[in-house]
Amino acid sequence: MTNKLIPLKIAGVGYSVPEKIITNEDLKELYDTSDEWIYTRTGIKERRVVCGEESAIDLGFKAAQNAIAKAKINVEDIDLIIAASSAPVDLYPAMACRIQAKLGIKNIPAFDVTAACSGLIYTLDMAKAFISSGMYKTVLIIAADNNSRLCDWEDRSVSILFGDGAGAMVVTQSDDGIDDILSIDIRADGSLGEFITLPLTGQNCPLVEPCEQKPSYVKMNGKEVYKFVVKVLPEYIDKCLKEANMKAEDVDYFIPHQANQRIIDAVQQRLGYSDEKVISNIKYYGNTSAASVPIALAEGVESGKIKLPSTAILCGFGAGMTWGVAIVRLREGIC
Ligand code: COA
Repeated sequence: MTNKLIPLKIAGVGYSVPEKIITNEDLKELYDTSDEWIYTRTGIKERRVVCGEESAIDLGFKAAQNAIAKAKINVEDIDLIIAASSAPVDLYPAMACRIQAKLGIKNIPAFDVTAACSGLIYTLDMAKAFISSGMYKTVLIIAADNNSRLCDWEDRSVSILFGDGAGAMVVTQSDDGIDDILSIDIRADGSLGEFITLPLTGQNCPLVEPCEQKPSYVKMNGKEVYKFVVKVLPEYIDKCLKEANMKAEDVDYFIPHQANQRIIDAVQQRLGYSDEKVISNIKYYGNTSAASVPIALAEGVESGKIKLPSTAILCGFGAGMTWGVAIVRLREGIC
């Protein structure tokens, strides 16, 4: 007996970013740096940060509402919520449960995935597995991060890079037999875990030894991350293109994780893509971790740079190290 896999439709995509903008010029109040140093090495001019009680949960909720509106579904149609973030706001309750409560949905499963900046591709792969097996019909995936709360704002080599934001996708069973996932693959290499870390240190029981409160911030070996990604990503994208029976020129857009403009440029060169095909908004948002791919996608459509219907290579990479690529069909009206 053969099990027929059910095709998947990307039905809606949404995003949300905080209002507050911090420019490279503003950062000069914190440490010795310059707009020129940051922009030439990263492509970043400014980033958005949460204020007051605002968090990735609020951003994720708004992004989810936008994706649900675009998908033209009711919240009651959602069978499963998966939230991805590099660092969830709380370890528990899960961010997915918090957003589920804000959406007013009960009695469906909701859980978080931590795959760092590959989170959107990881959750899309999981959604595909759940939908294609027939287990669930409609899955809401949310990628949200508030990195600005996790940076050491005295560390000028890391805090310049990150910004806050959220993206969301509603994925459903396809109603026309067409699968929007042309190829998808996710990977990890835990032996490279020390490249990017955010320890949750906690403290030992005071009866064991005196407590020492250790600060917990994002630490990154930027050079090693850069070398690894530039080496691995182009070959990996080639592999995913082959699996989709496509050549680079057959795909309309490249929507990469927005980590560093120099990384995006290096991969663009390998793919032989013109600037029109490559979506980059790192200049205005910095690295929003798991959220960067859906933000770039939805904002690219909003700004008119991405035309629908079309096809795109989505790719993420980040702490773990984790990485993933999805070659997808983008239908009219999804964002
Ligand atoms: N402003 C001015 N000078 C700075 C600075 C800043 N914001 N940050 C670091 N510097 C200085 C360093 O102190 C160092 O000075 P020194 O030579 O006197 O010691 C010099 O600039 C070079 O620092 P270095 O850390 O070697 O810079 P770099 O060329 O590797 O660039 C990154 C740093 C982070 C921009 C770069 O490594 C990078 O983008 N890596 C990839 C990060 C990434 O994509 N992460 C993805 C996470 S998903």
